[in-house]
Amino acid sequence: MLTKISHLDNLPSTPGKFKPDKSSPYINRLRSQSKLILWSSFFAAFTLLFYLFSTPFVGPPTSSRRALGSDSWGGRDWERRVSRSARRRSESGLTVLVTGAAGFVGTHISVALKRRGDGVLGVDSFNHYYDPNLKRARQRLLDRAGVFVVEGDINDASLLQKLFDVVAFTHVMHLAAQAGVRYAMQNPGSYVHSNIAGFVNLLEVCKSANPQPSIVWASSSSVYGLNSKVPFSEKDRTDQPASLYAATKKAGEEIAHTYNHIYGLSITGLRFFTVYGPWGRPDMAYFFFTKDILKGKPIKIFEAANHGAVARDFTYIDDIVKGCLGALDTAKKSTGSGGKKKGPAQLRVFNLGNTAPVPVTELVSILEKLLKVRAKRLVLPMPRNGDVRFTHANISLAHRELGYRPTTNLETGLKKFVRWYLDYYVEKKKSAW
Ligand SMILES: *[C@@H]1O[C@H](CO)[C@@H](O)[C@H](O)[C@H]1NC(C)=O
Repeated sequence: MLTKISHLDNLPSTPGKFKPDKSSPYINRLRSQSKLILWSSFFAAFTLLFYLFSTPFVGPPTSSRRALGSDSWGGRDWERRVSRSARRRSESGLTVLVTGAAGFVGTHISVALKRRGDGVLGVDSFNHYYDPNLKRARQRLLDRAGVFVVEGDINDASLLQKLFDVVAFTHVMHLAAQAGVRYAMQNPGSYVHSNIAGFVNLLEVCKSANPQPSIVWASSSSVYGLNSKVPFSEKDRTDQPASLYAATKKAGEEIAHTYNHIYGLSITGLRFFTVYGPWGRPDMAYFFFTKDILKGKPIKIFEAANHGAVARDFTYIDDIVKGCLGALDTAKKSTGSGGKKKGPAQLRVFNLGNTAPVPVTELVSILEKLLKVRAKRLVLPMPRNGDVRFTHANISLAHRELGYRPTTNLETGLKKFVRWYLDYYVEKKKSAW
């Protein structure tokens, strides 16, 4: 049932500029606040003039975010692009709204869906949590694959409403989220905004849509928190989150239960275990280790009490994509209509891991070998900032229900990542001269 997915290596990549983020987005924001006030007054004046002298407004009602000019959507050309991107090649295909489409997982899934003939429309806020150039490069890749990514926030109800007015989505692949465990201590509000408020807003629109779509969304292995029974099974306790990130993902699972129970939405949560690969997220250890090893910068390797190894169940992106497609293909229809439940609906949660935890020290050794550079290792005790000591997935449920069977070991997957990394950040920079 699962179609073969070729990964994105053979799509032409676009040069990107790598700007290492020195200061936190929070500090940057403070710094730019006075500038912002100046520019927003200019902008307000300009907007006012525009509305006074322009033709009568056509399109969706102005939301507060639109008034700020951060998003631009609506109009006939825009609707045509949305429809074209969401058009499936055959009657049996899916029509999928992918949130967080310019993200790491979102990009890979959108391309895989489009390639097998499904209709795909992306939404992404392109926020600055990590290098937005990388998101723009992924967007260009999606564009070449025929996937249009609408720039907007999942908290924007009128935008989502409009998308459902234009397209009868059969499925929503919800991947938009504030990721990262440690960043939650700097900016807790962004986790509540994206992972809780944004998710509820999306579910509100989905429950009112006719027909209601089936929803597959990204939860996280972090919901297992301080659970020490291994391997982690879906039935294990998830009531001891170790980070606000984990707590918001756990909240998402409970919210999913509510919307399934009250409105008959079919919802599947996928607990991803440390997903890595080409076009990955720069805030993840394998990614910034690669960067720092190449720069000759020391890397911090954390160890648990009594020199205990910190290990992760690293899962390669192509395996995750197969799991997501399996979840979409086996998702039953939602049962509600007109915002009312008509009967019980499917509610599922699956681990998507690799069932092979690897110590972080071994990850570093593999990277040294692939990069042909020795790492400067700084071994430190693990700080109490939200990270857990190890993760290990039991995937027998996903295997049984989704046909999920990961096939990529860490060394093979990292080889593909490193090849992409060197091509994207090193070769392209050289050839730009
Ligand atoms: C994995 O989970 C399944 C239930 O989904 C359970 O039957 C099995 O015993 C678990 N395996 C291990 C090794 O814990």
